[in-house]
This record gives sequence, C-alpha cells and structure tokens, in this order.
Amino acid sequence: MVNLWEMADLSTPWALRVAATLRIADRLAEGPMEVGDLAEAVGCDAAYLRRTLTHLAGKGVFEEPEPGTFALNDAAPSSGGLRDETLRLFLDLDGVGGRMAGAWTTFLAAVRSGEPAYQELYGRSFWEDLEAHPELGESFDALMGPVGHGEFDPEILVGADWDGVTEVVDVGGGTGAALTAILRARPGVKGTLVELPGTAARAVESFAASGLSDRVTVAGGSFYDPLPAGKDVYLVRKVLNDLPDREALALLHRCAEAAGASGRVVVLG
Ligand SMILES: C[S@@+](CC[C@H](N)C(=O)[O-])C[C@H]1O[C@@H](n2cnc3c(N)ncnc32)[C@H](O)[C@@H]1O
Repeated sequence: MVNLWEMADLSTPWALRVAATLRIADRLAEGPMEVGDLAEAVGCDAAYLRRTLTHLAGKGVFEEPEPGTFALNDAAPSSGGLRDETLRLFLDLDGVGGRMAGAWTTFLAAVRSGEPAYQELYGRSFWEDLEAHPELGESFDALMGPVGHGEFDPEILVGADWDGVTEVVDVGGGTGAALTAILRARPGVKGTLVELPGTAARAVESFAASGLSDRVTVAGGSFYDPLPAGKDVYLVRKVLNDLPDREALALLHRCAEAAGASGRVVVLG
C-alpha cells in the first residue's frame, strides 16, 4: 500500500538542504559536536538546528550519539555523501539548488496555465535568471558537466558510422563536456558549440584548458535563432526534456533547417 503521508512529507528534503547549505557535514568532519557549538560555528539558531538534525538523524543522516550532540555516519561520511561537491551544488539553498527547489512552488501555476511559471517567482525565465546571475549559471554548468551528468561516451553519438563526419554542432552543449569528449576521441573532427552567452564564455575557457580551442567555434546566442548550417551532426543532449513542446519543436526545426538534406540531428536524453 502506498503511504501517501510519507510520500507527501517535505520535511526531510528541506532539512537535507538546510544541513547542506549550512555545511554541517564539514563541521562534523572534525568530530562530534554539541549543537550549541555547531550552531555558533555555522551562524544559526541552536534550537532550530537541533530539531533539524534530530529529524535527519531519525532518517539515518547523521548520528546523535547523545542528546544534542551530532556526528557523521555512513550517509554523511567524512568524504562523499553530504560533502560531495556536486550533491552540495544541487542542495545548496544559497545557490542554484535554491532556485531549483523554489521552482517547485510554481508547479501548480505551470500545470494550470500550461506555461512555465518560474518567472512569476524569480522575475525571469530559468535560463534568463542564470544569465543574469553568473554565479548561479556557473554552478548550474558544474551540475551539468561530467560530475553531474557523467562522462559522455562519444561512440554513442553516431554509432560506428563516423565516416564523413568532420563537423559536429553541440546545440545547448553547456560548457562543452560532450564536445570535448568527441574531439578527443576523433582527432579529425571539428566542433561548434551553441550556447547562451554566459555559459558560452565559460565554455571558451574550458576548451582552452583542454587544448582544443583551435578545433572549436563557440557561438554565444540562442538556439532558437538560425544555427550554423551545413554541418554533419547536430547534437541535442539533455535539452528537449527541459523545454515546453512549442520551444522543443522550434529548436528541432532550427536543427533540421541547418542540417539540410545531408546532416543528421542526434537527440540524446
Ligand atoms: C540541461 S542543460 C544540458 C547541457 C548539455 N547538453 C549536457 O548534456 O550536459 C541545457 C542547456 O541548454 C542551454 N540553453 C537553454 N536555453 C538556450 C537557448 N535559448 N539557446 C542556447 N542554449 C540554451 C542551457 O544554457 C544549458 O546549458
């Protein structure tokens, strides 16, 4: 039987985010701490923190070896777990994690209207918000990179059929993790990355650090505008699932238009 109360309970997801944002696991890495000292160290209220951590300890995150004293355990070990940088980016309420958590409060408005409602809360669409706040954009890019999305396997792109593929466009390719993997695996291939300007600027740095600048063109702009035409492969990876149908179709039309009769559009989830 499905436990609807348990399923609907938001206290644990929020308590985890509060603990991650306050860097509680970092403090406890030095050893168990009494909650008053812990609260002073992280700059918060001891009574509220105690309730938060007692709740989490009850869920198996942290231990409370004696009342009011907290310690790391398997779910919050001294490395990894709540100290894992990528997980922390996702949970950090002061960063992009806060935007992603807050966005859920616009869910009902989106379902009612059939339109994204993020801008009602944050004043801009999600992507415009990240562009307007580079520190948020940077942490989102880090979540999208190899650490967050895993290493990209260039062979899945066009299977064994790389004959004649010399130019690949990564449409909405983040800071270029996929394109970097492709160019490393295929020395004869050149790439173009199409990204929003802030992320595009970070991609330029990333390609330079990988020594690939001379084989990549970074096009800062929108993928709803005409794409560089006549290339062999247009890669759209983990992009369509973020878009309403109308925008997803508009993007695919742009890809098809640019690919023409001889290019391929490759969509990866
Ligand atoms: C979920 S991320 C996927 C990134 C990358 N393809 C990957 O697999 O990790 C979606 C990307 O689309 C980009 N994006 C969103 N709207 C865009 C637009 N209008 N034009 C260009 N890029 C856009 C975002 O900046 C973001 O990097």
